Amino acid sequence: MSVILGIETSCDETGASVVTNGQIIRSNIVASQIDLHARYGGVFPEMASREHILKIVPVVEQALRDAGATWADVDAIAVTYGPGLAGSLLVGVNAAKGLALANGLPLIGVNHLEGHIYAAWLATEPARSEPQFPLVCLIVSGGHTELILMRGHGQYEMLGATLDDAAGEAFDKVSRLLGLGYPGGPAIQKAAEQGDARRVKLPRAWLEGTFDFSFSGLKTAVLHLVKQASTPNSAPKLQPSSLRAEIAEQPAAISDIAAAFQSAVVDVLVEKTRLAAAQCSAKVVVVGGGVAANKRLREQMRERIPVPVLIPPIGLCTDNGAVIAAAGHFHFVRGERSGWDLDVVPGLRLVAA
Ligand code: KG4
Ligand code: ZN
Repeated sequence: MSVILGIETSCDETGASVVTNGQIIRSNIVASQIDLHARYGGVFPEMASREHILKIVPVVEQALRDAGATWADVDAIAVTYGPGLAGSLLVGVNAAKGLALANGLPLIGVNHLEGHIYAAWLATEPARSEPQFPLVCLIVSGGHTELILMRGHGQYEMLGATLDDAAGEAFDKVSRLLGLGYPGGPAIQKAAEQGDARRVKLPRAWLEGTFDFSFSGLKTAVLHLVKQASTPNSAPKLQPSSLRAEIAEQPAAISDIAAAFQSAVVDVLVEKTRLAAAQCSAKVVVVGGGVAANKRLREQMRERIPVPVLIPPIGLCTDNGAVIAAAGHFHFVRGERSGWDLDVVPGLRLVAA
C-alpha cells in the first residue's frame, strides 16, 4: 500500500496528483500553459519555468485537497527529474525536495518517459487486470519516439527510436508549416477530419530491418507541397513524379495534406509496433505520450495489432502528475529512493546508450 504525491513540470504543464498503489487516481491537477505558448508557436522555455514557479504551490495544494489527503497520509513524493527543459524541471525538483524535507517524506526521482509508460497501470476500470510482461511499449511524445521491450517492472530494453524528429515534434512542425497553430497534434487531427488522405502521396520511412523511425523526410515533403501551393506555376523540385502529377491536376487542400501526413505517421508507428510485438512475443502493447491522444493512432493500433493494446485515456497521455506518481510507486515498493542531491537531467534516457 502506498500513497504517492506525483509532481510533473518537465515542459509546459504543471501537474500534481495523489495516487494510491500506483493505480487509483485520487486527484490529478494540471495547469496547462498552452495559451501562453500558443502565441509563440511553441514552448518558450524561460516563460515556462516562471509559470511553473507561479503554479506549483497552488497545484500541489489543490491535489491534496481534491484527494481529501493531508501530508500525514502521503508516503513519498515522486518527481520528474528528466528529460525535459532544465529550468522547468528545476522548479518541480526543488519544490519536491522542499516538501519532502519539510514533511519527513522520501523523495523519488522519476524519468518522465517511465511516467508515460506507467500511465497504462492507472486503473480506469476498477476490475481491469494489470498489464502482463513481456510487453512492448511505444512512447510517442513531443520529444520522444521509442519502442521499448519490458520483461518486468523497471526493466527497459530499447528496440528502436527516432533518428531525427520525434512524432509529436513532426506534428508540431508540420502544423506550423500548414498554418494550423500550436500544439500541432490536435490541430492536425482536427484539420484531417475534413481532408482526404488519398489525394496526397507522402513518403514513409520504413527503415527496414530496424525498429527505428525517421520523420524528417515526411516533414520536408510537406514543406515542398506548401511551397508549391504558394507558387503554383513553379516547377516542383525533389518530389516523386506521382505526387507531381496529382498536384498538377488539383492543388491539395490543407486538410488533405493534414490527413495524408497523419496517415503516414500512424502507418509507420502501427506497423513497427506490430512487428516488434510479434518478434518479442509480447502479451500486450502499451502506447503512451502526447501523440497517443491521436484518434487515428488509437483506432489503427487496436485494429491492426493482434494482442491487447492499452492506451490510456487522453488526459493521461499528455503530461500530468498521476503518471509520475504511478511510476514512482513501483520505485517505492522496490525500496528505491533519491538523495537530497537529486539534480535535473534534461537529456535523461530510459536505457543507457
Ligand atoms: O507527452 P507530451 O504531452 O509532452 C512531451 O513529453 O513532449 O506530448 C506533447 C506532444 C506534442 O507534440 C503534441 O502536438 C502531441 O503530443 N499531441 C498530439 C495530439 N495531442 C497532443 N499529436 C497527435 N494527435 C493528437 N491528438
Ligand atoms: Zn510527456
